[in-house]
Amino acid sequence: MTVQADELLELALATAREAGRMLVDDRPADGPDVVQTKSSPTDVVTQMDRAAEKLIIDRISTVRPGDAFLGEEGGTRAGSDGSPVRWVIDPIDGTVNYLYDLPDWAVSIAAEVDGVAVAGVVDMPRRGETYTAVRGGGAFLHTATGARQLRVNADVPLGQALVGTGFGYAPERRAHQAKVLTGVLPNVRDLRRGGSCCVDLCSLAAGRIDAYYERGVQAWDIAAGALIVQEAGGRVEGLSGAAPGPEITIAAGPGTFEALHDLLKPLDPARD
Ligand code: IPD
Ligand code: CA
Ligand code: CA
Ligand code: CA
Repeated sequence: MTVQADELLELALATAREAGRMLVDDRPADGPDVVQTKSSPTDVVTQMDRAAEKLIIDRISTVRPGDAFLGEEGGTRAGSDGSPVRWVIDPIDGTVNYLYDLPDWAVSIAAEVDGVAVAGVVDMPRRGETYTAVRGGGAFLHTATGARQLRVNADVPLGQALVGTGFGYAPERRAHQAKVLTGVLPNVRDLRRGGSCCVDLCSLAAGRIDAYYERGVQAWDIAAGALIVQEAGGRVEGLSGAAPGPEITIAAGPGTFEALHDLLKPLDPARD
């Protein structure tokens, strides 16, 4: 079955924007309700996370009924009819920002064909920004005034690098991440903790930060953002050439990646 990445991008784009608009328009004035907690009492899910994931899966499966889904809020289903496409969805990346009405949260949708991400969209309605990428076709930032192609900052020495990171919610993970942080901070320009993994990755693609690392991120956090960084000329990997994932995800321009990787490797070695 031949699938055109451009067509998948178009569907992802329309759907992410519809979900983004709904999340702005329907956000209760007194804030969303916490309907579930996950790894800790502060790892929350709101009714809006669930509503956005439902909207996204409904829209895409109406157009492409055979495709598979991996969604953070349980919207995981196998494909049918031999479709090679799987949609990887984070309906709100940055739920805590959304809960507090901070603007940096996003709808993230990636389309994989035979397990390879070929199209990705990260929509940030409160910033008025949408990031897109198609494998082999570059990464773009779309705003009300037009679109521009993205390039990572290529040659930033680690000591001059502005580095984004994030913290998983589980307490034992936090203690470990705090230790890693004390090893990173003296070796970089500064650190940023924005509260949304895919916003961090898009900021890297746009040259607003120089690098990013985090332990504990899942496929739905990084699927679209990693493609956007790669298409902007950056590297997104785990340790020693492993695929990025929960163990660790490191992203940076080519001139910064190795130094950050080598700094993190002894600080944050592979472990359970
Ligand atoms: C979280 C955000 C955050 C990161 C956490 C993620 P969520 O995703 O991406 O920046 O540090 O590890 O879990 O739960 O808001 O979708
Ligand atoms: Ca979550
Ligand atoms: Ca997320
Ligand atoms: Ca989420």
